[in-house]
Amino acid sequence: MNLWVLLLLAVVTLGRATYRPLEKPPCEMVDMEVLCHSRGLLQIPAVLHADSKALDLSQNQLQSILETPLIFYTALRRLDLSSNQISFIQPGIFTSLPQLEYLNLARNRLGRASPQNGNGGIGRLPHVATLDLSGNGLYNGLAEAFLEDAPDLLSLSLAENSLTRISRWTLQGVPALEELDLHSNVIMEIEEGAFDDLPRLTRLNLSMNSITCISDFSLPQLRFLDLSRNSIETFQTAPSDQEYQLHWLDLHENKLSQFPDLPRHNQLVYLNVSNNLIQMRPTSSLGDRGPGTEAWAKEPTDPSANDSSSALAHLLFLDLSYNEIESIPQGFLDPMTSLQFLNLSRNCLRTFEAKWERALPSLDTLDVSHNDLQGFAVGLRGLASLRQLFLQHNALTALPPLTLASLPKIQRVDLHRNWVRPCGAPRALVEPAASGCLALSNIPSLRALNLAGNALQRLPEGTFLQTPLVTLDLSANPGLEVVPGALAGLEASLEVLQLQGNGLDALHVDLPRFTRLKQLNLSENQLSWLPAWTREASLEKLDLRNNSFSHLESRGMSGLEGSLRRLYLAGNPLACCGNGWLAAVIQRGSVDIANLEQLMCRHSKDFSSQEDVPFLHVRPEDCEKEGLKKINVLILLIVVLVLSVLLIGVALFCCFCRQEFNQHFKA
Ligand SMILES: *[C@@H]1O[C@H](CO)[C@@H](O)[C@H](O)[C@H]1NC(C)=O
Ligand SMILES: *[C@@H]1O[C@H](CO)[C@@H](O)[C@H](O)[C@H]1NC(C)=O
Ligand SMILES: *[C@@H]1O[C@H](CO)[C@@H](O)[C@H](O)[C@H]1NC(C)=O
Ligand SMILES: *[C@@H]1O[C@H](CO)[C@@H](O)[C@H](O)[C@H]1NC(C)=O
Ligand SMILES: *[C@@H]1O[C@H](CO)[C@@H](O)[C@H](O)[C@H]1NC(C)=O
Ligand SMILES: *[C@@H]1O[C@H](CO)[C@@H](O)[C@H](O)[C@H]1NC(C)=O
Repeated sequence: MNLWVLLLLAVVTLGRATYRPLEKPPCEMVDMEVLCHSRGLLQIPAVLHADSKALDLSQNQLQSILETPLIFYTALRRLDLSSNQISFIQPGIFTSLPQLEYLNLARNRLGRASPQNGNGGIGRLPHVATLDLSGNGLYNGLAEAFLEDAPDLLSLSLAENSLTRISRWTLQGVPALEELDLHSNVIMEIEEGAFDDLPRLTRLNLSMNSITCISDFSLPQLRFLDLSRNSIETFQTAPSDQEYQLHWLDLHENKLSQFPDLPRHNQLVYLNVSNNLIQMRPTSSLGDRGPGTEAWAKEPTDPSANDSSSALAHLLFLDLSYNEIESIPQGFLDPMTSLQFLNLSRNCLRTFEAKWERALPSLDTLDVSHNDLQGFAVGLRGLASLRQLFLQHNALTALPPLTLASLPKIQRVDLHRNWVRPCGAPRALVEPAASGCLALSNIPSLRALNLAGNALQRLPEGTFLQTPLVTLDLSANPGLEVVPGALAGLEASLEVLQLQGNGLDALHVDLPRFTRLKQLNLSENQLSWLPAWTREASLEKLDLRNNSFSHLESRGMSGLEGSLRRLYLAGNPLACCGNGWLAAVIQRGSVDIANLEQLMCRHSKDFSSQEDVPFLHVRPEDCEKEGLKKINVLILLIVVLVLSVLLIGVALFCCFCRQEFNQHFKA
C-alpha cells in the first residue's frame, strides 16, 4: 500500500503543470479515500487508484469537469468538488459513476454555465442521494437543468443562490427528495403545488428569502419548516382536517401581525414567532378566520373552544418574544399542557395571568421580562414545574404575597428593575395580603434571586428565612437599609452576594458567618470598615471599589488570606502608610489585586495638603518620614496653642486694665 501511494504521488506530481518538490505531495490516500484538499490543483489527477471510494478535491482551482479522467474512477461513492471555480461540467458525466452517492459542488461558478451549452446541466445522477449546489449563483431555469434527472436524490442544497421562484417544474426531477435547503436566495414566490410531487419531503429550509405571504399552507408531509427571516405578513393554512406532520416551525424575524393560523391537527413541538409584529387583544380572534371561530374569546372551560388552540397541545417551545402583544387572549395558553418553554419577553403586556387550576403544568421556563407588567397571578397548583421565572424590567409592585412561595419547583427568579417590596419574617404573612409585599421566605427550592434596581428601602428581618439562596443580587437600590438579621437563614448556602450601588455606610450583616460566600460585591457604597473574617471564610472575590476605605485592618482581613484570590480596591481614599496587611499581601503576591499599577493612595505632603501617589511607589522610608512630619506638626501645634493661650491671657489682662481705667475715669 505504501509503495503504491508513493508511486501515485510521484506520478501525480509529475503530471502537474507546475513542478512541486516531492515532499509536498498533492494527494494522500487513507483507506481508499483520496484527499486532495487545498493542493492548488488545476485538473483532476489522472492517476488515482481505480478502486478509490472517495475523492476530496475541495479548495483547488478546477474550472471544468471533463469525462477523463473521472469516468475511470467507477468505484467512487463520494466526490467533493466544493470551493473550486467550476463553471462547466460535461453533461452526462455522472452516469458513468454508478456508485456515486454524494456529490458536493458547493461554492463554484455553475451559475456562469450557459444553458445552451449542453443544457448547462449535469444530466442524470443515477444514485446520488446527497447533492450540494449551494453558493453557485444559480438562477431560475438553470437550477432545473442541474436537477433534470436525479431519481434517488434525498438531500439537496440550493442555498445561497439567486433563485427568485420555485415553480412546479423546479423539483420535478427529484421525486424522492426528503430534505431541501433553499436558504439565502431571493425567493418571492412559491407556485401552488411546487412541492406536491415530493411526498417524502420532511425538511424545508426557506430562511432568508423574500417571501411575503403563506396562503393555503398545505404540506402535510413536512416535519421541519424554516421560514425565518423573510417578510411574511400572514401565515394561513388551507382549511382541512388532515393530519399534518409538522413538528418544527420557525417564523422568527418576519412581519406577521397575527398569530399564525396553524393546521388543526399537527405535531408541533417547536414554534418560534419571535421578532414579528404580532398583536393580541383580550377578545380578538387570532386567525383571520371569520365569525364563529373566535376561539380565544370564549371561556376556557367551553368545550366548543376546541379550535386550533388544541393544535398546540404537543408544543414544548413557544417563542413570542419581540412582538406587540398587549394581552394574552383568554384560553390561549390553556391547551398547551406540554409546554416547557414560553418566551413573552419584549412585548407590551400589562399583566400575565395563568389563573386556571393546574395551569401550564409542564412549563419549566417562563420569560415575561421587558414588558409593562403590573400584575402577575397564578392560579391554584399552577406552574407546578416552573424552575426559571424572568420578570425583570417590568413595573411590578404588589404581587399576591405567596406568588413565588406557591411554585413548588422554582429555582431562579429575576425581578430586577421592578418595584417589588419583600415581606419580612414568615410570621408577618399571617396578616392579610393587603400589605402588598412579596414573600421570599419559605421557598425551599429557590437558589437564585435578583432584586437589583427595585428602589428597595428596607430589607426586613428574616426576609429569606427557609429560602436557601445561593445567589442574591440586591444591588442598585440606593439608600437600602439592610436591618440586622435581614439575611438570616442564608449563612450556610449563600455563595454570591451583590450589594453594590446601595450607598451603604455600614454593614449590618455579619458576613464572616456566611462561610460559603465566594463572591462579594460591595462596590459603590460608602463603607469604611469590614467585619473581622475568620479562617472559615471561603471568600474568593471581593469588590470594594468606590468606597471610603482608608485602611484595611490586618485584624479583620487576615482571615481571608487562605481563600481570597482577587481584590478590587480602586476608588478608595487608601492611606499609603499604615496599610500593613495590604502591603504584605502585595509583597507576597498571594492575592491578585486588580489594576495594581494604577492603585493610588493618599500621602500627606505637609501640614494640611495630601497627594495621591501610586501605592506601589510608596517606600517604608516615606512612611517613617511621614511619621516624623506628624511629630513635628504636633510639636508645632503645641507651641502655637501655648502661644495663643499666652496671647489671649495678655489680651484679656489688657482689656481688664482698660475697663478699670475707664471706670476710674468716669468716676
Ligand atoms: C436553515 O438555514 C439557516 C441558515 O443556514 C440555519 O441557520 C438554520 O438552522 C436552518 N434551519 C434548519 C431547520 O435546518
Ligand atoms: C427564536 O428566534 C430568535 C431569533 O429571533 C432566537 O434568538 C431564539 O433563540 C429562538 N427561540 C428559541 C426558543 O429557539
Ligand atoms: C376537541 O379536539 C379533540 C382533539 O382534536 C377531538 O378529539 C374532540 O372531538 C374535539 N371536541 C370537540 C367538542 O370538538
Ligand atoms: C427570550 O427572548 C429574549 C429576546 O429574544 C431573549 O433575550 C431571552 O434570552 C429569551 N429568554 C430565554 C429564557 O431564553
Ligand atoms: C461589582 O459591581 C459593579 C457594578 O455593577 C460591576 O461593574 C463590577 O464588575 C462588579 N464586580 C465584580 C467583581 O463582578
Ligand atoms: C467607580 O467610580 C468611577 C468614577 O465615578 C466610575 O467610572 C467607575 O465605573 C466606578 N467603578 C465601579 C466598579 O463601580
